[in-house]
Amino acid sequence: MPTGLKGRNLLEPMDFSVDEMECLFRLADRVIEAPEQYADRCRGRLLATLFYEPSTRTRFSFEAAMLRLGGQVIGFSEPNSSSVAKGESLSDTVRTVACYADLAVIRHPKEGAPRVAALATDMPVINAGDGGHQHPTQTLTDLLTIRRERGGLGGLNIGVCGDLRFGRTVHSLIKALSRYPGMRFALISPEELMIPEYVRKEVLQKGGIPFDEVRMLQDVMPGLDALYMTRVQKERFFNEEDYIRLKDSYILDAEKMRLARPDMMVLHPLPRVNEIAVEVDADPRALYFKQARNGMFVRMALIMALLGVER
Ligand code: NCD
Repeated sequence: MPTGLKGRNLLEPMDFSVDEMECLFRLADRVIEAPEQYADRCRGRLLATLFYEPSTRTRFSFEAAMLRLGGQVIGFSEPNSSSVAKGESLSDTVRTVACYADLAVIRHPKEGAPRVAALATDMPVINAGDGGHQHPTQTLTDLLTIRRERGGLGGLNIGVCGDLRFGRTVHSLIKALSRYPGMRFALISPEELMIPEYVRKEVLQKGGIPFDEVRMLQDVMPGLDALYMTRVQKERFFNEEDYIRLKDSYILDAEKMRLARPDMMVLHPLPRVNEIAVEVDADPRALYFKQARNGMFVRMALIMALLGVER
């Protein structure tokens, strides 16, 4: 079945319907089962990765995904090594890249930058994180992981903990999950890092989705199906003192894990700083490295779908 996503952009999670996401997850499942069947799918195709902000997983997983599909990759991870340093606009850079590549992945510190890029070209554009706004391909990774662990999405009580204000993965995750039935959220953060008003009002309240905003992780742990931990987003702070005061607000350790259900999923988009103690890695409920691997497979599915070569 074609996914119907050929030629489309992925700028924010709602760009794809629930059914379209399901097609992508099924495709990702098939890639995980038999990756060799997809090894030539993108032969002769070129992916451009334009990273105006640091990245490890997102850029490498996109590049690995394209290479594992038999395609090739160009791009930069250091904008000062490109004509950006000469003052070229994002639109001009993207129009130029579209002369060479078949699709582009863009990470940028400014909210909405990937949308500006998409308006400048017919080439499919994927948002790989725009400032403190959205990160839809991390959400594909997160949903694929939950779906594979639980056999489906919906009917889950999800705790989201840490920097809910600047954490773009959190905004995209809540938006995407809000479309499944029976969801409930526990939003765990310090006062200063609470979820933005637009997510609270436009997504949660408008959707009639039950949620609690709490300070203490321990208070909600026992009822959670999944705990999504996040890093305090240092690069979005205006002053260092606030960051230092807030950075270690939550540390998940073996002792806190004793409060959780025996099958609670621990997720994290990574990179981790201090918010999950290394001792938790050995707990079978810790899924974050598995999640990173799923990220490559779901990006393989996404690339094939946008290029229309999934069949
Ligand atoms: C996240 C990001 O860049 O927003 N990382 C990622 O893509 N896996 C999370 C983070 O940086 O904290």
